[in-house]
Amino acid sequence: MNKTPEQLYLDLIKKTLSFALWPEPPTLLNPNHVPSGLKRFGVSVASKVLGRAGLLLARNSDFQESQRIEGRVWPEYAHTMIGLKRLDNLQYCIETVLTEGIRGDLIETGAWRGGACILMRAVLAAYGIVDRRVFVADSFKGLPPPDENRYPVDKGDEHYKYVYLAVSRAEVENNFRKYGLLDDHVVFLEGWFKDTLATAPIERLSILRLDGDIYGSTMESLESLYPKLSKGGFCIVDDYAFRGCRMAVDDYRKRSHIDSEIKAIDWTGIYWRKEENRGR
Ligand SMILES: C[S@@+](CC[C@H](N)C(=O)[O-])C[C@H]1O[C@@H](n2cnc3c(N)ncnc32)[C@H](O)[C@@H]1O
Repeated sequence: MNKTPEQLYLDLIKKTLSFALWPEPPTLLNPNHVPSGLKRFGVSVASKVLGRAGLLLARNSDFQESQRIEGRVWPEYAHTMIGLKRLDNLQYCIETVLTEGIRGDLIETGAWRGGACILMRAVLAAYGIVDRRVFVADSFKGLPPPDENRYPVDKGDEHYKYVYLAVSRAEVENNFRKYGLLDDHVVFLEGWFKDTLATAPIERLSILRLDGDIYGSTMESLESLYPKLSKGGFCIVDDYAFRGCRMAVDDYRKRSHIDSEIKAIDWTGIYWRKEENRGR
């Protein structure tokens, strides 16, 4: 083994954040996590009956290890759902901007329990970087209902109904604290992207990571933040496998004349590097 202490620390952080050190426990069934309909009713009744006897309703997690590596599951305990491949990619992108001196802060729009942002802070800590900040942008109450007039592609999207996706700021702060990584290099942008991103106190970015799931959230992130991405900085998109997100990325790239090569991370994650001569 010839890994440096920094690499060993970051490997452990990634495995911990993604809960890869442990087998996935049974998934607790919570009616609030079921958007609507008969299934929600059934889960609700069963939970109440079992609850009276001090029991919890759970289903066996039949996740394969490969599904967790590729971030294909909504995990019960992990601090991130993006999987090890996308965590590796994030580390690679940050290490590259540090090595090459590409200036700017780091941001993720769509943080959920904070795991990817915690990795960002961990990489800065591992290399003793004190002149960059990590911005954590989220409503901390889940997705907004789709704005069908502005973003017709999002019509009918039900992400906003999932309580599972609503993680409070206090919980995210506490997750940072557990890793010893909550300090003034971490800046929370609390609220809907349409209200927070354009006026965020960010001058320049080296890492722009988008994880807002739908067209509107992806487009609002790109419109507000891509112009602040340094040349040589990385734009990482978590949800390119999903129609809304993909269309927002494709529309924005076309409109902004961005033709930097898109590279695949896994089945849904992609990234590109802002080039010297093209793109706003
Ligand atoms: C799939 S989760 C992000 C997963 C996270 N990156 C991780 O490491 O596991 C999507 C997050 O985006 C947030 N979100 C989506 N659209 C938003 C918007 N328009 N404004 C604020 N937050 C938004 C949700 O609250 C949720 O926390």
